Amino acid sequence: MTTFSLVALPIVVLILAVRHYQHIRRWIASIAIPFLFRSNASSPPTSTDVKRMMPYPARPIPGRERYRVMMDIRKLDTHNWLTLDQHYKEEHAVRDILLRDKREEVIQSLPEAAAACHEALEVVAEFLCARYPSMFQTLALDGDTASIRNCMTGEQFAVRGPASSGDGIDALEAAVRLTMEDLSILMINEEGEYYLAASASLFPTGWTVQERIGWTISRLHGPVPLWHQQVANSVSKFLARLTPNSPMERSNYFVEVKHPDEQLIEILYRPQGLCEKHDSRDPTPSDILIRKERQTFRRLPHSETILFGVKTYLTPLDQLSMPELENLVREMKTWPDFVGEYKGKHVWGNKVLEYYQGRVRVAQATQEKLEV
Ligand code: HEM
Repeated sequence: MTTFSLVALPIVVLILAVRHYQHIRRWIASIAIPFLFRSNASSPPTSTDVKRMMPYPARPIPGRERYRVMMDIRKLDTHNWLTLDQHYKEEHAVRDILLRDKREEVIQSLPEAAAACHEALEVVAEFLCARYPSMFQTLALDGDTASIRNCMTGEQFAVRGPASSGDGIDALEAAVRLTMEDLSILMINEEGEYYLAASASLFPTGWTVQERIGWTISRLHGPVPLWHQQVANSVSKFLARLTPNSPMERSNYFVEVKHPDEQLIEILYRPQGLCEKHDSRDPTPSDILIRKERQTFRRLPHSETILFGVKTYLTPLDQLSMPELENLVREMKTWPDFVGEYKGKHVWGNKVLEYYQGRVRVAQATQEKLEV
């Protein structure tokens, strides 16, 4: 090789590399990314793992001595903002049906919420890929285009780039297909009140997004007894003060009555209410469900909107621990009649008391036997 070619060749290669930089980058990405994912295959992913995952523990019923509507917010456990568990696949199947067959009822977005929905998907995807790397993978083709792959379902969604632009509905749908939570975007109106600007609420308790999209938080809680007197002002202040660095969470519980032969979809999707399907038969303890919600609140840094998440947990009454059953019985005794009426106590209250007394008798008999 001549001295000339030794000098010229690298220069020519450099010029070509600079000129075709974008093509080369894309080519490397197309080869390197699948290769990197193949090499990850030794840490076995996906559905088998998720089937073994116990649910993130829902807050126990506190057993308060006096009834009061409480904000009861605490700092978010950020490592477990979005959680996965053994119910992922069956709940995902329910979400899939609802998003297809009841689309208008379960997902809505107002035009002004589009950017926030896209930001929500980016934040959700980033969290899931970092927290559960064997179940979700980022496919970053270049700086401007990225997708997320759900290894458990095989679904893939554009997170950034031209394929992910639009009115926000697709982005919000992708986010709730990835997670086990319902997700909503809260925005502030001209009067300084937060309102429901976008929502994918697949597991509602007596309402639908279709009828309540655009409602303020205050109006959403219209039917909730004592809400306005006891927490409305604190909730407004709390939402206004939320910063991207101070995400919060709170818990709620309801009591639901199901039919013995009801499918999961009918149990989770309850737009009419939680006790309205009750008929004249007495519900059995396994048909009375303690329905807990873990609610999370995050301020999104770019759109400055609030991302509100709700994860639903179901526990049949006969699987409730004795201390929690005691707490439920203690709390229901403190409810004024109109609060009990709102919560459906007339449907399930006597049955819960009867079941509790039965368990107390069994516990006492066991104790007596041990003492003999
Ligand atoms: C710190 C904030 C919040 C507090 C303290 C709060 C509190 C409550 C309470 C106490 C109930 C009644 C539950 C029961 O049966 O005991 C309720 C119901 C409800 N909440 Fe909230 N909530 C908050 C935020 C939100 C947000 C952001 C939304 C937005 C979607 C929301 C939507 C609802 C709806 C739709 C109901 C059912 C109302 C009905 O019966 O029609 N809540 N909330």
